[in-house]
Amino acid sequence: MDFLNEVTSRYPEAVSFAPGRPHEQFFEGVDPGRLIRRYQDHLRATGATPREAQRRVLQYGAAAGIINDLLARALGREQGLEVIGEDLVVTVGAQEGIFLSLLVLSGPERGPVLVTDPCYVGASGAARLLGLDLVAVAAHEGASAPRADALREVVAGLRRDGRPPRVLYTIPDFANPGGYTMTVGERRELIAAAGELGLLIIEDSPYVFTAPRDERVPTLKALDDPADPRVIHIGTFAKTGLPGARVGYVVADQRVTGPAGESTLAAQIATAKSMVTLNTSPIGQAVVGGLLLELEEQDRLPGEDRGAFYRASLAHLLSALDAQLGQHPRLRDRVRWNRPDGGFFVVVTCDFPVPEELLEVSGRDFGVLWTPMSHFSLDDDPTVRRRLRLACSYLSEQQIDIGVERLARFLAWAAAGAQGTADV
Ligand SMILES: Cc1ncc(COP(=O)(O)O)c(C=O)c1O
Repeated sequence: MDFLNEVTSRYPEAVSFAPGRPHEQFFEGVDPGRLIRRYQDHLRATGATPREAQRRVLQYGAAAGIINDLLARALGREQGLEVIGEDLVVTVGAQEGIFLSLLVLSGPERGPVLVTDPCYVGASGAARLLGLDLVAVAAHEGASAPRADALREVVAGLRRDGRPPRVLYTIPDFANPGGYTMTVGERRELIAAAGELGLLIIEDSPYVFTAPRDERVPTLKALDDPADPRVIHIGTFAKTGLPGARVGYVVADQRVTGPAGESTLAAQIATAKSMVTLNTSPIGQAVVGGLLLELEEQDRLPGEDRGAFYRASLAHLLSALDAQLGQHPRLRDRVRWNRPDGGFFVVVTCDFPVPEELLEVSGRDFGVLWTPMSHFSLDDDPTVRRRLRLACSYLSEQQIDIGVERLARFLAWAAAGAQGTADV
């Protein structure tokens, strides 16, 4: 990732399909001060004195968070979840939620973490930082849903080796990087297999909002059994609100017994958090709290105002690829790409190498950047070197057109054996 950031900073004029950032048009008219005041009005209306309302936002806060009740209500409206504030921890983005969940769940025996390959680099990187091994579970062809039969096989093998896993990490909706969305059937099968195997599932869910409201597939958490919950659900306001607020959350309603007696997994995560970041910035939380109150008033779901924009960007990227790569005499039989219905990402597969080392040439000579799929790969499988990830969320349609035209020139050059001149 450092390499990618470094190349990106060296070619600021290049069109970059690398970052999965929200589009900055959504920052227009956002007034964090107004949202904080809205949240403080709510505190006062629900019994806080003006001094308390001020303290809640400006002082250190509880490790578990200060907007948990509002979040629980939002999750009820959004996903039909019946959770309470105590089942939640507000984290510094989804990223801290992933890190803390892995930290707490890895337990003293530090069993490996199950994932599908490719895997979101923030999750694989966090696991590695914690010294945890990653073990891949095979997915259905062209999908990233872990196959229940493969899961049973992998878990049995690890148990035989004395390395029992406790947790599987997955992105069921518009996965990063693969774009795949699990069917309801695949979700039910996965939860059932997790129950059978005594596993917990970390569900990372940043892109679910890009589906139209009435077409969203229920989250794993919404399909979970409240009597024996298997799913730890992670969400974020980075894409639906403001990434700069750095507010995400973990829903972990599992009952657990620890040294201090019985509690929830959320309470254990909050204890770990108090040793990592103490608490998520109350100012950031207040901004999101104000946003949640406004959305509730308007009967809108987080991100609902921007899902259509991202779907249009993705559709635009796919038609630009169809036109520029699909019609290209030197690429049309040699390059293909997937067609996700939502999310931020498309994966292009070539029958020739496009390794990380070519990114420099791509930025310098062709003015276009992308993310090598090797960043998401668990091993050095050579097929990964023929794939790249494109993100379109941050770009205008005009930039997408220019970028794809440049990408076609770069790929035609790479297809010719990465020889010759950039003028192809
Ligand atoms: C799958 C996935 N999980 C987590 C994150 C991190 O989210 P946050 O910015 O809320 O930490 C990202 C960011 O792009 C992501 O793609």
